[in-house]
Amino acid sequence: MLKKIKVTQLRIGMYINDLQCGWMNHPFAVNRFKIKSDTEIRKIIAAGVKEIEIDIKKGLDIFIEKRKAENGQLRKVIDQRSQDKPGKVSVLQELGPAKIAFAEAGEFITDMMANAKMGQHVELEQVNPVINKMSASILRNPNALLGLSRIRAMDKYTFEHSVSFSVLLMSFAKSMGLPIETINNVGIGGLLHDIGKTLTPDEILNKPGKLTDQEFVIMKKHVVDSRLILEKTKGLSQVSMDIAAQHHEKFDGNGYPLGLKGDQISTYGQMAAIVDVYDALTADRCYHVGKEPSEVLKLLLKWSGTHFNPDLVRKFIQAVGIYPAGSLVLLSNQHLATVIDISDNMLKPQVEVFVNTKKRCYVPRKLINLAEQDEIKILSIESYVKWNIKH
Ligand SMILES: [Fe+2]
Repeated sequence: MLKKIKVTQLRIGMYINDLQCGWMNHPFAVNRFKIKSDTEIRKIIAAGVKEIEIDIKKGLDIFIEKRKAENGQLRKVIDQRSQDKPGKVSVLQELGPAKIAFAEAGEFITDMMANAKMGQHVELEQVNPVINKMSASILRNPNALLGLSRIRAMDKYTFEHSVSFSVLLMSFAKSMGLPIETINNVGIGGLLHDIGKTLTPDEILNKPGKLTDQEFVIMKKHVVDSRLILEKTKGLSQVSMDIAAQHHEKFDGNGYPLGLKGDQISTYGQMAAIVDVYDALTADRCYHVGKEPSEVLKLLLKWSGTHFNPDLVRKFIQAVGIYPAGSLVLLSNQHLATVIDISDNMLKPQVEVFVNTKKRCYVPRKLINLAEQDEIKILSIESYVKWNIKH
């Protein structure tokens, strides 16, 4: 089956049926072939080709298009719901739309990073629909997307970090009472903040363990690269730019790239610095398991005043809660449960019970709103790894 696509949508594995330009005008010996490397894609772009015909029976299709078709029906419902007035819904009601918003953001970021690698600009029109869906979900109930952010594949760290970073920042902005326009702009900054990493060599980006001093110098360059790439994006807000350009600055002036101090860093840059560390430390990587959120919240408090603005750390903890959505908790009835929703009562969240630790067995999943009863309490936050539970 043949399909016309833009040259920027080309991927390794696609089968080119027609290069849509005269044989003399391109550097390949044949007109039909399967793309095997980025170099071939670059050559096609350099030849000035704008559109290409691919054969999706002989090679890969466009990822986003395929997913859109698969989820078409559900998307219709969600699009309709996105236009509804934001109002509180339960996490379970919000889970479907949140899953789609999360997946679409992941697809977008994968696509955008691939395009940036080939020197393409980021167009705001491409980011806006993704962010609008995320902010609509966050306004209805942030805990659905926050819970999903805890579950991530280890091999796609940069992509998925950008999505969960964005979700955390938007929830943070929402809990601070910032207007919807700002929530969207922090979300855009969150998705794009590490775009400069497309220029960081893979062996440094994915190196297990500590970087050497020289490697760290190269790694740090991603912030300046992000800024340079995003300066080419027309209409990008200062809020979004601050997040990309300042997310590694520290409150005491010991950050990079500029070593800005205190108020020299914008509020959004300061918020981004907190969220970046929280997300990086809670994430599972291929070479280590992430820390539990409660442990990381303690570290944030420890670094208050040095790395971070203490006032904003307190506000961030209020936003994600002492028991963040997706955490595993041990209850006083000796059952294990996942935190589902913290919006009614941060200390007494809604949880889903699923393991009896006394009998050492799984039990049918059951929702309990701890705020609505006095018998069962949270004893501790537990580690999924310690209990050998996959989540
Ligand atoms: Fe970064």
